[in-house]
Amino acid sequence: MFCPGCGTWNRSTAVSCLRCRSELPELGDVPLEPPDPEITQVRRATAGRYRVVRRLGSGGMAHGYYALHATLERPLVIKVLHQHLAKDHP
Ligand SMILES: Nc1ncnc2c1ncn2[C@@H]1O[C@H](COP(=O)(O)OP(=O)(O)O)[C@@H](O)[C@H]1O
Ligand SMILES: [Mg+2]
Ligand SMILES: [Zn+2]
Repeated sequence: MFCPGCGTWNRSTAVSCLRCRSELPELGDVPLEPPDPEITQVRRATAGRYRVVRRLGSGGMAHGYYALHATLERPLVIKVLHQHLAKDHP
């Protein structure tokens, strides 16, 4: 199954994710489709701290993602700057 935390493929018998170590859900309520590469990147960058649930939308400067704090379960929005804006002027 694909880890809901970071998108990594794990064997169906795995209890926790190989990559981010988070506990994997019971088989049956797991999406079989691989998550899109963009949200997978955000999940990898934040693995262990936040559970990135879905993309909310995009503005002129950033994509917004709905996420939950890994231990507090508090909802939050993660904004990821568009790539062309995410570097300093030379
Ligand atoms: N607090 C929030 N609640 C719900 N959706 C949000 C929130 N913050 C951002 N978003 C979503 O993320 C998108 C991009 O965030 P936004 O703050 O508008 O970025 P930008 O600076 O690019 O305008 C928004 O259009 C919206 O869909
Ligand atoms: Mg906006
Ligand atoms: Zn994982």
